Amino acid sequence: MNAATPSLSPAADGIIGLGIESSCDETSVSVVVDGREILSNEIYSQISEHAPYHGVVPEIASRSHLLKINSVYESALQKAGVSIEDVAYCAVTSRPGLTGSLMIGAQLARCLHLVHSIPIVTVDHIESHMYAVFLEGKQVEYPFLGLLLSGGNSAIFLVHGPEQMERLATTMDDALGEAFDKAASVLGLAYPGGPQVEKLALQYAQKNPNAASARCIFPRILRDLPAERMAFSFSGIKTAVLQAAAERDPELICFDFQRTTFELVTRMLKRAVQSTGIKRIVASGGVLSSGSLRTALEESAERDWNLVYPVDRKLCTDNAAMVASLGYRLFEKGNRNPLDFAVSSRR
Ligand code: KG4
Repeated sequence: MNAATPSLSPAADGIIGLGIESSCDETSVSVVVDGREILSNEIYSQISEHAPYHGVVPEIASRSHLLKINSVYESALQKAGVSIEDVAYCAVTSRPGLTGSLMIGAQLARCLHLVHSIPIVTVDHIESHMYAVFLEGKQVEYPFLGLLLSGGNSAIFLVHGPEQMERLATTMDDALGEAFDKAASVLGLAYPGGPQVEKLALQYAQKNPNAASARCIFPRILRDLPAERMAFSFSGIKTAVLQAAAERDPELICFDFQRTTFELVTRMLKRAVQSTGIKRIVASGGVLSSGSLRTALEESAERDWNLVYPVDRKLCTDNAAMVASLGYRLFEKGNRNPLDFAVSSRR
């Protein structure tokens, strides 16, 4: 815990914040100035530890966070060239997530508060994804629509300000990233499945230039959902992939899996824009790493939509810089959490 790095005061004019993220399978600590300039964003990914199980194993996750968090913390300060004495606030993810994993990050924040009197600001993990774009110099005015597509969540929010998020749509069952991972597992592809499915889909598109206009092998998801309702559902297509796997080309399955799921995402986003009249959209979460999804969203966006997402893929997946970014806005609002703040698996 003792980073003896001399302070280089890289941004004496700004407020230096520390972010801590440990809600799932990434251990991350970041140093950010004024909630928008990243000095360091250290991430240890546990992917290889969970890969044999094709999904995140909670017990493995918390043990791994415990082993890694001190070195990730020290490396974040060192790379940023700041001393812990320079840090004005410590933003930490306290919800939602795996309880055992959240507790490890929470404990680091508590130590920093006890030893260095650094104010603690707790942060909602889902909300923090919406604040990753502000780390790339983008300006988005409130209210905006937030589209989150990750391994654990699929949702659309109406964001009025920090801690003012109204959920417009969520998934009835699986999250999109989870569906990618399960489809990949059925097809014998490596974990995490998203990049593997995307690779096969691209191979299919290259070999079949007219693939996008051909009949899709999967039915439209939630085709009977009333026009005024917004929701996601990705468990049915998982079963459809399982059935198709025996007789269809895996590249075609991946191509149509993306076509079908991305169509639902863009359909629901259009509904959200129509029902709210808001055309500023912030998209984030691990699935936004997909170049194919980025293209699908851009192609379906109306001309007057302002759609932004983190260009740097590292900011789409779980990272502590986005925690510090939201934390900065909460710190400026006056939020301070007590030492015995709770962590929670729910929002
Ligand atoms: O945000 P994130 O780190 O999620 C949680 O931990 O909740 O995102 C991880 C998810 C995984 O399910 C992974 O398969 C998916 O993001 N993903 C992708 C791609 N890259 C990562 N999904 C589709 N296409 C990709 N290229």
